[in-house]
Amino acid sequence: MTGTDSYLQSLLVTNPLQEPVMRRVVRALDLPPGSRGLDVGCGIGLQVMLLAGAVGPAGHVTGIDLSPEFLTYARSIAEKAGISGQVSFQEGDMNNLPFDDDAFDWVWSANCAGYAPGEPLPLLKELARVVKPGGSVIILVWSSQQLLPGYPVLEAHLNATSSGIAPFAEGAAPELHFSRMMGWFRRAGMEEVTVRTFAGDVCAPLSDEIRSALTALIEMRWVDVRAELSEGDWAEYQRLCMPESPDFILNLPDYYAFFTYSMFRGSFPGA
Ligand SMILES: C[S@@+](CC[C@H](N)C(=O)[O-])C[C@H]1O[C@@H](n2cnc3c(N)ncnc32)[C@H](O)[C@@H]1O
Repeated sequence: MTGTDSYLQSLLVTNPLQEPVMRRVVRALDLPPGSRGLDVGCGIGLQVMLLAGAVGPAGHVTGIDLSPEFLTYARSIAEKAGISGQVSFQEGDMNNLPFDDDAFDWVWSANCAGYAPGEPLPLLKELARVVKPGGSVIILVWSSQQLLPGYPVLEAHLNATSSGIAPFAEGAAPELHFSRMMGWFRRAGMEEVTVRTFAGDVCAPLSDEIRSALTALIEMRWVDVRAELSEGDWAEYQRLCMPESPDFILNLPDYYAFFTYSMFRGSFPGA
């Protein structure tokens, strides 16, 4: 399997955790029917489908992504869903969007723009450039999780590793952490800047789909952590977080976990 294939698989396999939350986020946005939007870093187009449903047949959603393979997949699911006329997909870089100024009523980016490495202001300004007066920029980030019930110290140690705080890095300016995003929006000239937190949760008995999603999530969340853990934590991590272990945490009959997405939204004054 290539790196792109396994990335695509990870987007698909974790979607059952993410999708119910994304549906609630899209509903809460109350996007104007008939509006035109852009999904930045749309991946395989899973949220383009939800956004297109929200703006209805008179609206349009464009998905942009760096990966041509993801876009091919996105086009195929749009076709299967019978909404090819309401959506389009284009290869491109969010740092240099191939669109005119004021091309969209809103811009959405989930699990992408909020994690961009480096100085966020040029990117925020670029997203803002393509939004019409009166429009808004919406950025969703995965902001927390509690996946190891009963093991708060191990989970805290895992969350304190480089992987646990990525894409932030120890020693980086605090303003660069995604939780300071309201400031990024304001510095890019947006007004009415708001944030809302949406939680997802799961509990035993886990369906096969949710079990696979959580297994992939645990694997993705704390990557290459061994060198940063004590011997004791590493042993506990292997016992609780490896699917082949008899004590794999998802085997708990009373397993419960939750996670949050933070939705930052900034609007521009009308024309
Ligand atoms: C974690 S995935 C999220 C996909 C989708 N938004 C979702 O939440 O399911 C991040 C996506 O951002 C894309 N991406 C990363 N950097 C990008 C850039 N500079 N411009 C456009 N897309 C980018 C990646 O190719 C990938 O598809």
